[in-house]
Amino acid sequence: MLDAAATWLRERLGREPELAVRAPGRVNLIGEHTDYNQGLVLPCAIDLELVAVGARRADGRFRVASRQVGEPAEFDAAAPTRGRGWLDYVQGVVAAFRAAGLPIVGLDLALVSSLPREAGLSSSAALELAVATALAEAAGLGLDGAARARLAHRAETDFVGVPCGRMDQLACALGRRDHALRIDCRDDTVEAIPLPGHRLGLLIAASGVRRQLASGAYARRRTECAEGLARARQAGALPGAARAWRDAGSEQLPVLQRALDPVRFRRARHVIRENQRVEETCAALRTGDLPRVGALLREGMASLRDDFEVSVPELDLLCELGDATPGCFGSRLTGAGFGGCTVHLVAPARAEAVADALRAGFARRFGREPPVWPVVAADGAAPLPLPS
Ligand code: GLA
Repeated sequence: MLDAAATWLRERLGREPELAVRAPGRVNLIGEHTDYNQGLVLPCAIDLELVAVGARRADGRFRVASRQVGEPAEFDAAAPTRGRGWLDYVQGVVAAFRAAGLPIVGLDLALVSSLPREAGLSSSAALELAVATALAEAAGLGLDGAARARLAHRAETDFVGVPCGRMDQLACALGRRDHALRIDCRDDTVEAIPLPGHRLGLLIAASGVRRQLASGAYARRRTECAEGLARARQAGALPGAARAWRDAGSEQLPVLQRALDPVRFRRARHVIRENQRVEETCAALRTGDLPRVGALLREGMASLRDDFEVSVPELDLLCELGDATPGCFGSRLTGAGFGGCTVHLVAPARAEAVADALRAGFARRFGREPPVWPVVAADGAAPLPLPS
């Protein structure tokens, strides 16, 4: 991919490479819709990734050529303008650097990617992190992964206008090979949890249903969580010090059920139990209890479907197919839901059989084969040595 990106830079932008970076996508193993409730998540960066090769410009302009998109696009670092599709993620990072008072060096960038776009694997966070890493390299800023993740997140919320939590950017920035990341989204502390790769394979299947985070459903879930919290506090159904659903436990559920309307209660129940599932999944991974990890994934999926109501029939079917196939420990939708992908934890020797079952069963019902990728947990976004 590095050679392909260097060739693309020469062919499309007529420049010789001066710097190169890579940025991975992510899959969340468990802990969904918890990040914006100051809760726990357990994603890993994956080996589907984006590679960017660049050369500095003296005029403060950016020219970006993506092999997935085609024609190069341009903008002025001093005047980014919204509404240019995928280029907004690049412009947003430049705008975030400016807002933070960081120096900006104009760049010609060529992008090559094995990460499918708009599939729910954080291709936008990968693009943001690639640009943030390239900008930091170009100006010699030495920003660590957490700082780049914050800038990338600011690009997404302040410039692109997606009200997302910080999980995706933190996972793409801080991923570690053969590990999942337990992230506490209250203070963004990260603990790397080893994945027993010889016993545990990861499959990702794409539903082919496109979800638009910016569209209303994700924002509505956020609002429902916030409203429920406010009402529960008003009703005295939560400890006074509770600042987020993170601070509630299962023992509060009976009181909460009386205090909240059914929808907001179900949203709260998902978040409260999901935080517990993340802790239990980490514990089960530490002891190597993979059947227990799988059971937690299945419980998480049921909760996303029934309590948080973010599944769709395509995601339900992929999970049912996975869970019905020998060698699959557990399955769930991953990311925001409403479309996107599922993740399946499998015994490595059975990975191909599970993938076949997903493709065949899905094709029987929906008349098309879903893409299925075996992935491994990968390192976060970082500079690469230049191709020779
Ligand atoms: C999307 C958002 C994340 C997170 C997940 C749901 O991926 O970008 O911040 O909220 O949905 O867990």
